[in-house]
Amino acid sequence: MADRAAKLTFDGKDLELPILEPTEGPNCLDIRKLYAQGHVFTYDPGFTSTASCDSTITFIDGDRGELWYRGYPIEQLAEKSHYLEVCYLLLYGELPNPTQMQDFENRVTRHTMVHEQMHYFFRGFRRDSHPMATMVGVVGAMSAFYHDSTDINDPVQREIASIRLIAKMPTVAAMAYKYSIGQPFVYPRNDLDYAANFLHMCFSVPAEKYDVNPALAKAMDRIFTLHADHEQNASTSTVRLAGSSGANPFACIAAGIACLWGPAHGGANQAALEMLQQIGSVDNIPEYIRRAKDKDDPFRLMGFGHRVYKNFDPRAKVMKESADEVLDLLGIENNETLKVAKELERIALEDEYFVDKKLYPNVDFYSGIILSAMGFPTAMFTPIFALSRTVGWIAQWKEMIGDPQNKIGRPRQLYIGADRRDYQDVSAR
Ligand code: SDX
Repeated sequence: MADRAAKLTFDGKDLELPILEPTEGPNCLDIRKLYAQGHVFTYDPGFTSTASCDSTITFIDGDRGELWYRGYPIEQLAEKSHYLEVCYLLLYGELPNPTQMQDFENRVTRHTMVHEQMHYFFRGFRRDSHPMATMVGVVGAMSAFYHDSTDINDPVQREIASIRLIAKMPTVAAMAYKYSIGQPFVYPRNDLDYAANFLHMCFSVPAEKYDVNPALAKAMDRIFTLHADHEQNASTSTVRLAGSSGANPFACIAAGIACLWGPAHGGANQAALEMLQQIGSVDNIPEYIRRAKDKDDPFRLMGFGHRVYKNFDPRAKVMKESADEVLDLLGIENNETLKVAKELERIALEDEYFVDKKLYPNVDFYSGIILSAMGFPTAMFTPIFALSRTVGWIAQWKEMIGDPQNKIGRPRQLYIGADRRDYQDVSAR
């Protein structure tokens, strides 16, 4: 409950808006009764000043450049934890003890295969389909296969659906990749950990033995952790809104994948690497900086800027360190794209346009360099982001479904269209 209230006076009305105080971050003015008491809406396109829910999962401080999963700073989790442990933390709120971790890992491992019939889904797509199109289709269709985990009101079915989605997303993403390059699907292996299994399903072929490089698997696992959740971003809000209507979890996650695909959101990792490759050399950077600042030019520095972070994105810092490690590990020296990225970052952070607008590299700026060095085509970057974010979408969806205050999301609008008018026969127009 709120101890304090903000006073709102207009049109002869005096309203009190309770002030809700968080564990950390800005206070919230509770406007839930505003329309009933004041017959007015608030207006906030893009929700720049609007909290859509309360949550215990992830906290971001954009000014301090902080990101916590259940209170644990992302830098510590990226260094000391691993993705499946982070999944447990996001889903259940606490770090697991060894028994809980083993049980969770066993449950996920035993759900990594998809129904054999789903192999035929892929056949309906063109080989050159973007893997995100395939993933949206296949994940949405999973509700046609797993009827025993679509009743959102049954906590047991919610749990089974959550495990299935976390377990099968790498398999579906790897299948989308294999299908796009005309190679046979590779089944998951229960003797490999989550990240190693994904690399194995993507890069092994039946014709020869394939050993996953443990250092690359660790780098892959860290990328999964960095992308796991990010409070109420566009795709998570999409999942929550879809879930608020009672849609099954597979349909909700498919909606999240569709939203993440946009270049302003998760699609930025593909766009950022393509931009760096388009720039080509450090000599060309000034021209692109000029274009990014030109209001008449739609070009933006992809991988730069963020709705919340008005300081550095803590994930970008870890990703930048990881890029150096992976390229060094792979013996890739003088990587022109990484040189362009680092010089672009240096110049942008000294340019008053970017400084004034508080534009810093975000999570998508360096990730593509690592993924490209690992052998992934740019089209696989956003599917990997979707794979990683599935646990965050599910944790947020479960939190919403389990909230007794949960109701269907239904924003209103500021109507500025035509006033009421009568129909005119075509003869009178
Ligand atoms: C992700 O929300 C999340 O948490 C998302 C995410 C997650 O984990 O879920 O963090 C993942 O989506 C990261 C963001 C990836 N997107 C990109 O890298 C695309 C490039 N960046 C932008 O398009 C932009 O910065 C956004 C969309 C990310 C944020 O946009 P905002 O908050 O709506 O800010 P804005 O578009 O109003 O920009 C503010 C100003 C504008 O100039 P003015 O109109 O005030 O003069 O900054 C300018 C913009 O033109 N600007 C840029 C810019 N980003 C913003 N100018 C040049 N290059 C850019 N990248």
